[in-house]
Amino acid sequence: MEANMIKIFDTTLRDGEQTPGVCLDVREKVELAQALAKLRVDVIEAGFPVASPGDFAAVSQIAAAVKGPVIAGLARADKKDIDVAWESLRKAETPRIHVFLASSDIHLEYKLKMTREQMLAQAVEAVRYAKRFTSDIEFSCEDASRSDWNFLCQVYSGVIAAGATVINIPDTVGYSTPGEFGALIKHLRDNITDVDKAIISVHCHDDLGLAVANSLEAIANGARQIECAINGLGERAGNAALEEVVMALATRKEHYRAYTGIDTRQLYRTSRLVSAHTGIAVPPNKGIVGDNAFAHESGIHQHGVLNNPLTYEVIKPEMVGVSKSSIVLGKHSGRHAFEERINQLGYELSDAKIRSIFKEFKDLADRKKVVYDRDIEALIADQQNASGEHYRLIYHNTMSGNKTVATASVQVETDEGVIEEASCGFGPVDATFKAIEKAIGFAICLKDYQLKAVTSGEDALGEATVWIEGNGRTFIGRGLSIDVIEASARAYVSAINKMMASGGCPQVNEAEGVI
Ligand code: KIV
Ligand code: ZN
Repeated sequence: MEANMIKIFDTTLRDGEQTPGVCLDVREKVELAQALAKLRVDVIEAGFPVASPGDFAAVSQIAAAVKGPVIAGLARADKKDIDVAWESLRKAETPRIHVFLASSDIHLEYKLKMTREQMLAQAVEAVRYAKRFTSDIEFSCEDASRSDWNFLCQVYSGVIAAGATVINIPDTVGYSTPGEFGALIKHLRDNITDVDKAIISVHCHDDLGLAVANSLEAIANGARQIECAINGLGERAGNAALEEVVMALATRKEHYRAYTGIDTRQLYRTSRLVSAHTGIAVPPNKGIVGDNAFAHESGIHQHGVLNNPLTYEVIKPEMVGVSKSSIVLGKHSGRHAFEERINQLGYELSDAKIRSIFKEFKDLADRKKVVYDRDIEALIADQQNASGEHYRLIYHNTMSGNKTVATASVQVETDEGVIEEASCGFGPVDATFKAIEKAIGFAICLKDYQLKAVTSGEDALGEATVWIEGNGRTFIGRGLSIDVIEASARAYVSAINKMMASGGCPQVNEAEGVI
C-alpha cells in the first residue's frame, strides 16, 4: 500500500443499517453493495452475520456476488460469532473478519463485567481463532477513545502479535475532539509494538458533529483506513459521512497529502440510492450531496458564480456527479436522448430497466411540461425501490373537502384477480390507505408517512414515503406521482409488497386486525 493512500471502509450496510428506522432487505443490500463497488470503496462491511438470519443471508449473497472490494463481516470476540461470520464470508473474493470487544473501563465494568486482563486475553484469543479462517483480520477496541491509552497499546500490540492486519480505533460515542483524537492516534502509532504490521483505522461517530473532523485529524496523524457511511448514516447521530471525508481529501490535497481510490463522480447517485432504500432523506444543506450544496441564492453570489464558479464553489458539481446540464427533456424527447441523459447522470442500467423507466418518463412527460434531472433520478430510484409486485394498484379515486367526509375507492390486482373496495377516512390519504387495506383483506400498522416535492414548481413530482410494521420488521415504500394521493397510494402498496416478499401478511389479531 502506498504511504499516502487512504483506504475507504464503508459501513453503510452495517453501522448505517443501525440508523433508527432503517431496515434494508437482502435485495436492497446487494444492490447497494454493487453501487459501493462501483464507487470503488476498498472495503464493504456487509453486516453483522450472527445478528439475524437476514444479516447472514445479506453478507453471504454480497460475498458471492460483489467483486472488487474486500467484504467484511462483524463479529464479537467469541468463537460462535467468528464461526458464523466466516460461514457467511467464505465465498468472498477477499474476505475480512472484523472482531470487536470494548476496552473502556465503563464498558468493562457495566456492560461486560470483565477486568482489563480478561479483556486483553479474550481479544488476543479471538484474533488468533479468526486467523485460522482467513489472513485479513481487523480488530476494534470498542469505545477506544474513552479507554486508557496505555491499556490500548497493550491490547493492540497483543492482537497484532496474534495476527490482526488492521487495528481500528473507534470513537464509539462521538466524544473526542479533533486535537485529542489526533494525539491518541499519534500515541498509539508511537507506542504499539510492531504497529507497522497493521493498518491503523478509525471509526468516528458524529454525536458532537465532529466525526469527519476527527477522521481527518486521524489521517494527519497516521491513520490509513477510514470507516464511514454514505450520507453519514449510523447508530444515533451516525458515522463520518463518506462523501465529506473523500471530498475533503480530494479538495484539500495540498493540505492532507493523501488520496483515496474513490470514483467521486459516483458520490451523488450513490447517496440518492442509499436515501431511496433507507427512507432517510438527505438534508438540503448537507455538504457534497445536499440539494443546496451547489445552489446560490444571494444575488452577489450568483453574480460571482456566473463570472467564475470558483468565487463561491470549491468543488465542481460534476466532480461528485451533480449535473448542471441545460438540456431539458420533455414529451418530445426520444428513447435515445433519454438513455444518453441517464448515462450522463452516471447510471448503468439494463435494457429492461431503461425500457420500463422510459415508459414512466413518457407518462410523466405527458403530465408535466419539463422533466428535470431530479425527476429522472426519482424515477430511477422508484424503480430500484420496487419489490416483487404481489399487489398492483390499478385505480384510485378520492373525494374530500372541508365539509365532507373523505372517501376513497381503489382497485387492486393480485394474481387471483381484481378487488375493488371503498372506505371513508380522516382525509383523502387516510381514506385511500383504508380502502387499500380493505382490498387486501388485512390491517396494516402504519408507523410513519412523509410527503415531499422532488422539484419546485406547480407541476412538481410528489414523493411519498411510508413506513409500515409487520412480522416484527419495518418496511419502507416509496411512491412517485404528480398527484400526491396517487404517490401516497403507490408508496403504501410498495411497502405492503415488500412485506409480502419477506414472508407474507403479518400475524393479525383476529378480533382487531382483520377488516
Ligand atoms: O462504534 C463502534 O465502536 C463500532 C464498532 C463495532 C467498530 O461500530
Ligand atoms: Zn460504530
